[in-house]
Amino acid sequence: MNILVIGGGGREHAIIKKLKENPTVETVWALPGNGGIARDAVCVPGKATDLDAICAFAAANPVDYAVVAPDDPLVLGAVDRLNAMGIPCFGPNAAAAVIEGSNAFSKELMKKYGIPTARYEIFSDRQAALEYLKTQPVPVVIKADGLALGKGVIIAQTPEEAEQAVDAIMLDKKFGKSGDTIVIEEFLTGPEVSVLSFTDGKTVVPMVSSMDHKRAGDGDTGLNTGGMGTVAPNPYYTEEVAARCMEEIFLPTVRAMAAEGRPFAGCLYFGLMITPDGPKVIEYNCRFGDPEAQVVLPLLKTDLLTVMQAVTEGRLAEVPVEFSDRHAACVIMASAGYPVSYEKGYPLTIPEDVADHVYVAGAALKDGQLVTNGGRVLGVTAVADSLQEAVDAAYDMAGRIRFDNSYIRHDIGARALKAIKA
Ligand code: AMP
Ligand code: GLY
Repeated sequence: MNILVIGGGGREHAIIKKLKENPTVETVWALPGNGGIARDAVCVPGKATDLDAICAFAAANPVDYAVVAPDDPLVLGAVDRLNAMGIPCFGPNAAAAVIEGSNAFSKELMKKYGIPTARYEIFSDRQAALEYLKTQPVPVVIKADGLALGKGVIIAQTPEEAEQAVDAIMLDKKFGKSGDTIVIEEFLTGPEVSVLSFTDGKTVVPMVSSMDHKRAGDGDTGLNTGGMGTVAPNPYYTEEVAARCMEEIFLPTVRAMAAEGRPFAGCLYFGLMITPDGPKVIEYNCRFGDPEAQVVLPLLKTDLLTVMQAVTEGRLAEVPVEFSDRHAACVIMASAGYPVSYEKGYPLTIPEDVADHVYVAGAALKDGQLVTNGGRVLGVTAVADSLQEAVDAAYDMAGRIRFDNSYIRHDIGARALKAIKA
């Protein structure tokens, strides 16, 4: 079995390592992969969004199966293109990936099917948006439609900030073309939980829950990032919450997509907030989260390829999917200055005994030496019997990886540990 994985971050590294646990897997290509992934897969130069190049590679090589991991190629239709060539894929087609590709689509879907989410209105007219804002309390949340690389969300604390946000998105096009349409929504409160799920469009199997740490600084301060660390499971996701989510959110969403003629097959990510009124959807993603995958996949006991193929072939109901009841923690090591501006090119050495626990995101090979090449450089994941032990072990390993200008948060898991003790 030869597998092509599209993408080149820590999430893709986690997927590749897990796929390779299956003894039938021979070659894994990563397009583009990165200098760290090169240890575990054959990296193919190119861009994850260059569908022509992806298809050309797939036509020229014996690819049996493909995993399209990032949002943008999914939304662009990478799965449709590969399927048309006869290559089975893990990941939704473009019609289903729109659940992440358009906030306006996902909000309308939730309204139509009664799936709990923040109250909202959609605007493509700036004046109408400004009028509506006058009627809304602050804080208020303003989102650009479309993929804005996870950064298209502004939480305005005052009416002035709200107006500035509308102008930044609609006039100054702060998030590019995705700002032609905006969603203005109610500010929700409560702990956030990420639940990734496997779904074949009929059956939905939630994976172990997780908690991301999105802000750059300790104590959840500073700018939003792609994620500075994760823990799993998330203590706020109790059995009672899980049962409500299945009933009120997961099944209704999968059925809604099927009813819309857009059956979703792949990993459907539910970004949830556990509000005083119950769990509500903050966002859907059409893919594994990053760095959620780096804590969720190490806890998966069932063979990943077996589950993925069951998803692709529409027979997920037949495959029991099991997770370990242990705990995982992932600490991201970033370049100082991330997510704004940072330097690259610093040499990086990963001790051999730590390498199995490392998922490389932004590093390149230069004359055989691994050097930093991105904002988030790598993640280190530890699995242990308790969350405290997992967190301690992850920080221990991170402490043994050194590169100039490295930056970490020091409190990954702190909030979850407090919730466990409370
Ligand atoms: P997103 O880019 O959609 O993941 O949103 C980034 C972050 O903004 C989320 O993780 C939440 O912390 C926050 N957020 C988004 N929408 C809301 C909302 N309606 N109420 C409160 N916080 C929100
Ligand atoms: N960690 C959040 C995301 O992958 O969107």
